[in-house]
Amino acid sequence: MTDTKRIVLSSDHAAIALRQAVAAHITANGYEAIDIGPITPESTHYPIHGKAAAARVASGDCDLGIVLCGTGQGIMMAANKVTGIRCGVCSDTFSASMIRAHNNANMLSIGARVVGEGLALEIVDAFLRTEFEGGRHATRADMIED
Ligand code: RB5
Repeated sequence: MTDTKRIVLSSDHAAIALRQAVAAHITANGYEAIDIGPITPESTHYPIHGKAAAARVASGDCDLGIVLCGTGQGIMMAANKVTGIRCGVCSDTFSASMIRAHNNANMLSIGARVVGEGLALEIVDAFLRTEFEGGRHATRADMIED
């Protein structure tokens, strides 16, 4: 019996290299990375990839999701249109931890044109290592769903 967390990853063309670095990093740290691409560098549309990753989380196929685009903003907006998804853009580790602890975020978004790889990997670690605190925060998270 394994409790390895399945993490879906996707991006647009602006963040392919960083997404692949994140996938390798989390795999090395014991997570199962489900990287759904894209692989080739042609310009593409972030809503397609945000929706596809969000669907994997919303369906329960994956535990958490990480999406990336140039700023992290567009793909976050697309992911949040999927029912049950709570996705935040983070450029710092404190926020990455708090969106799990207080907001029960199930997806993280990062801007590949905003943060470098070293910080991005620390943001990912902060997100994945933090658990939702529940309690009063659960009331508020439930209100978002309602
Ligand atoms: C693509 O040029 C860029 O607009 C996209 O990656 C993202 O930054 C949108 O939010």
